[in-house]
Amino acid sequence: MEKIKIVAVYGSPRRKGNTAVLLKKAVEGARESGAQVEEIVLRDLKMSPCLEIFGCTKSGECKLKDDFQKARDQILASHGLILASPVFFYTVSAHTKILMDRFQSLWVKKYWIDKTPRNHPKVMRKALLISVGATKGKKLFDGILLSMRYFFDTIDMELWKALLYRGLDFEGDVLKFPDYLEEAYEAGREYVKVLKNHDVATLG
Ligand SMILES: Cc1cc2nc3c(=O)[nH]c(=O)nc-3n(C[C@H](O)[C@H](O)[C@H](O)COP(=O)(O)O)c2cc1C
Repeated sequence: MEKIKIVAVYGSPRRKGNTAVLLKKAVEGARESGAQVEEIVLRDLKMSPCLEIFGCTKSGECKLKDDFQKARDQILASHGLILASPVFFYTVSAHTKILMDRFQSLWVKKYWIDKTPRNHPKVMRKALLISVGATKGKKLFDGILLSMRYFFDTIDMELWKALLYRGLDFEGDVLKFPDYLEEAYEAGREYVKVLKNHDVATLG
């Protein structure tokens, strides 16, 4: 069977922040289980926000040419996606949101050009989400989870698991919680198994 390919997206502006540390652990676990993982650090990319010019309405191709196209192609060619973003004002970081908004070109292709029915029973790829926030409120991740549902749908994915941690603020805070790191590592390992089974089930 072909090697499982996963893209890991670092959505925080902090290179060694809490989500980055957790994502690295998940990547370690996924590699340990035999997956090929490509890492995308959003803060290193040159990516314009969506300018809403709708140049994508003819073919679904975004007219803004920058680092989006490569990231898009990597994500679309993968079996799985691990996306990590901190909570910024109850939603994802600006870096993450820029990437998500640029996928509007695919949303346009899927729903306007190809006229895919909304509840089209398509086999969805599975995604793993990692997020952290400083506070502890019950609704801390509600915004992100809702955004992700629609973002993942656009790229024919659905949420497999969300690792959500409250009460982490300063860089390095997550290191005080070895159980979180272990959980992220194990999730990375388990994710590959799930993707392998999914692949067999869907592709025969
Ligand atoms: C611009 C900004 C907005 C933030 N908004 C929230 C928020 O709405 N709720 C919250 O609990 N934490 C908020 N935080 C705190 C971060 O979620 C927290 O520091 C997190 O650990 C950062 O993750 P990182 O180290 O991976 O970047 C905010 C931080 C920044 C810089």
